[in-house]
Amino acid sequence: MDFNSPVNDAGMLMDDSRIRAHLQTIRELLERDNAVVLMSHQGRPGGRDFVSLRQHAKVLSAYLGQEVKFIDDVMGPYARDSIKSLRPGEAAMLENVRFASEELVEAPLRQQANTYLVRYLSPLFQYYVNDAFATAHRSEPSVVGFPAVLPSAAGRLMEREVAALAKVLDRSLSPKVFVLGGARVADTIKVIENLVRNRLADRILTGGLVGELFTVAKGIMLSTSSMEALERSGALALLPRARRLLMMGAPIEVPVDYKVLEGEEVREEPMGRVSGLIMDVGGGTVDAYSSMVEEAKLVVLRGPMGVVEDPRFREGTEAMIRAAMDCKGYAILGGGHVAAMSGLEPGTSDAKVHISTGAAAFLAFLSGEGLPALEALAGGGRA
Ligand code: 3PG
Repeated sequence: MDFNSPVNDAGMLMDDSRIRAHLQTIRELLERDNAVVLMSHQGRPGGRDFVSLRQHAKVLSAYLGQEVKFIDDVMGPYARDSIKSLRPGEAAMLENVRFASEELVEAPLRQQANTYLVRYLSPLFQYYVNDAFATAHRSEPSVVGFPAVLPSAAGRLMEREVAALAKVLDRSLSPKVFVLGGARVADTIKVIENLVRNRLADRILTGGLVGELFTVAKGIMLSTSSMEALERSGALALLPRARRLLMMGAPIEVPVDYKVLEGEEVREEPMGRVSGLIMDVGGGTVDAYSSMVEEAKLVVLRGPMGVVEDPRFREGTEAMIRAAMDCKGYAILGGGHVAAMSGLEPGTSDAKVHISTGAAAFLAFLSGEGLPALEALAGGGRA
């Protein structure tokens, strides 16, 4: 499972949607009278969110309407005895798997199959189920070590995530429109390079810092304050790659106008005459982008169009989410902000839309990187 959730300064859980996203899988396993042992990470050492999973077990117990016994140990004798004492239909949650140092080391599957974590725990289990799509990009022992030695399957959430992402590779779904924003510019450039290399996108509509970078790459000047912000984010170092993509004829669109802030004044300015600090895309961009999204057979939306933490600058992102969800085809929404603003539960999949629980895993997939979790489940080689 990936129960990794945001926590506040006191270490308390602020959002339990990642826990809810796994309910179907856990319920199905319990209904079939399995004894179910749940394993997840939470944060990483040094981070404020590196906390125990005790609260997660409580929250999960409430959702399931049955006790999820919290085991205050990852793989020691107490953990192993507790696992052995479970009866069919009972559930338990192990302590944060990253409390075990081996989990912090990413390595190939064969090496992970030989970790103490996997050697101590796997003899106690008949099956391994991976439902942690959001951790699928990590070659950690809990992700690739167990499926190397146990009969394994994908959980229901993992199944929905993979089914949705498979549409990205489906050549019969055309046109495909990608709406890429946010501040993770280096990761997004990688995504665009992969989409262009493999001709997976008919149009790439940019927003957020990504949009600003491509605007500059087209030779259009932004305001001094926006150029400084772009410089501070480190994005300007990516200009040569952005220019190269444009010169290759990549189908990349940039905003035609922006919503800017100057002092306390908020106004819209056309591209080419931006004087304030860019905070969102403007109304003209929303109209133009929405009409391109409307006709798409597949829309992938990742990353906000503006600074959505400030309510004055949420409009562009909200409008693109609406356009994606109303398009003629299928919409996949990913990344924390966009998923949260969609109003739908992360992990939701229906005939029209999928809300991914993955952030880095979602980007890794779109970048064309193999996902170690999926490779391991697909039989990456029983060690
Ligand atoms: C996430 O939230 O992206 C996943 O839980 C992975 O967390 P990580 O980046 O600490 O491995």
